[in-house]
Amino acid sequence: MGFKSNLLVYTPLECESKEEMVASMQLAKDQGADLVELCIGSMSFSHISEIEQLLKQRILPSIVSFRHKCPTNPCRCLQVFKMAIEFDTEFVEIDVEVATEAVLNEFMRKRSNTKIIVSGHLNGETPTTENLGNLIIDLQSTGADVIKLVVDVSYITDVAPIFHMLTHCQVPLIARAVGDRGLISQLLGPKYGAFLVCGSIGDKFISGLPPLASIKQVYKLEYMNSDTQIFGLVSNPVGHSKGPLLHNPAFRHTGYNGIYVPLLVDNVEEFFKVYSCNDFTGFSVGIPHKEAVLRFCDEVHPLAQSIGAANTIVRRPTDGKLVGYNTDCEACITAIEDAFRERRVANGQVSNASPLAGKLFVLVGAGGAGRAIAFGARSRGARLVIFNRSFERAKALAKAVSGEALPYEFLKEFCPEKGMILANASAVGMEPNVNQTPIPKVALKSYELVFDAVYTPRNTRLLQEAADVGAIVVSGVEMFIRQALGQFKLFTGGLAPEDFMRKIVLEQF
Ligand SMILES: NC(=O)c1ccc[n+]([C@@H]2O[C@H](COP(=O)([O-])OP(=O)(O)OC[C@H]3O[C@@H](n4cnc5c(N)ncnc54)[C@H](OP(=O)(O)O)[C@@H]3O)[C@@H](O)[C@H]2O)c1
Repeated sequence: MGFKSNLLVYTPLECESKEEMVASMQLAKDQGADLVELCIGSMSFSHISEIEQLLKQRILPSIVSFRHKCPTNPCRCLQVFKMAIEFDTEFVEIDVEVATEAVLNEFMRKRSNTKIIVSGHLNGETPTTENLGNLIIDLQSTGADVIKLVVDVSYITDVAPIFHMLTHCQVPLIARAVGDRGLISQLLGPKYGAFLVCGSIGDKFISGLPPLASIKQVYKLEYMNSDTQIFGLVSNPVGHSKGPLLHNPAFRHTGYNGIYVPLLVDNVEEFFKVYSCNDFTGFSVGIPHKEAVLRFCDEVHPLAQSIGAANTIVRRPTDGKLVGYNTDCEACITAIEDAFRERRVANGQVSNASPLAGKLFVLVGAGGAGRAIAFGARSRGARLVIFNRSFERAKALAKAVSGEALPYEFLKEFCPEKGMILANASAVGMEPNVNQTPIPKVALKSYELVFDAVYTPRNTRLLQEAADVGAIVVSGVEMFIRQALGQFKLFTGGLAPEDFMRKIVLEQF
């Protein structure tokens, strides 16, 4: 792990009453905030003495801001700022529209330690280096100690000019892109020189702000620096991703200077065009981009090419080219092979050949996971039969892998031989539909091994019933771990800390 920086983490407190503000301040402190923004505009107070009491009770360094109601009552807002300065509050944040020369001169004269932040908002316009640069010039010309940019973004690519501003600004800059597509402005800001990042507290979800707990425990942004390599999941939606919980600790465990973040991407082509520098080093790819990304890779590994989908992209350090891989396929197939081998070793049977060779492999599902598993099973010499809710999709996959497709309703009676392998790669049985299973228990008797790609829940109804009838069971969690290990190796060009990553998945997922 690298050196710890002086990064400060703050959280905005928007509360109705003084009491609620004080309680939230305590919560923010407990969750590791270094400072809080007391958004006075959110409070209903009848007398300024309530603000005086609040300032006296503050238990963390504070930014006093008063925005929303400012234009309607500038006098009151100036009164609050004056009081904050009188109480030597660490920062006051004044909107550029209120920050006239006269006001700022007076504040500068009267303050002892208070730093003045002047903030400007860009909304309704796509941020560019030009319009943000102009706004920064305006803010800087006020003579503020610190300037703050708050920018509405429509796409993740709109955040790029903010990183540019952070890198080049001559005065301390706080920058925030608003909305869920702006999340990376906080998570990656410190790489570009941000000295302050913003998080949300407790269960107060604020779109685009990472929770304080994850800034402190998962991302550990205080260890980020300009050399930190960026990785992330390119997906939409992306909020459910558990990748950050796994890859970030694994980077630290191996001493690799990397960060892994959710990347909410609408347009993959645009994303790779804008974030084309070597700092954006590697990507996991999720729904719905796994197939489309192949078009934007400079090279595609033959396995990913034949599957027609990549779940991993790595930027080759030597020439910056994007190379696509699929780690889902090997993850599933090796998990099944190892489970067979374990059973065979226990029975004293040892062989180098794949235990799948010659077996009848029954695949349920012909989506992304199904395609990867189908190619893997065929590569090991299994005979493949595919069932899928949409028969057309089953037929198309069967044609691509020289397998056979049968109508979905035949699955429950399908029993041409004993000792078959069943792999569920459909979403049946996945949370919240945990009582569903793709096949009745009685039909499972014909299978020697049952694999379920579904990993939420870990022990699906299918796996429970397969264990009941004596089949070898292989969980989707095992596939998940292995595909993540494969990804991590590609990301770092080295080994993955297997025991460590396995422990995280088993304990936290
Ligand atoms: N363990 C791992 O590492 C791992 C990795 C990838 C995926 N997965 C899991 O694998 C499952 C499929 O993922 P995917 O990426 O392949 O998704 P996908 O591309 O969206 O495909 C979904 C598949 O599920 C089928 N399906 C959905 N609802 C169904 C229903 N009610 N009845 C019957 N079939 C249904 C679809 O059939 P149609 O074609 O008829 O729509 C399709 O075959 C998910 O549970 C996912 O979490 C696990």
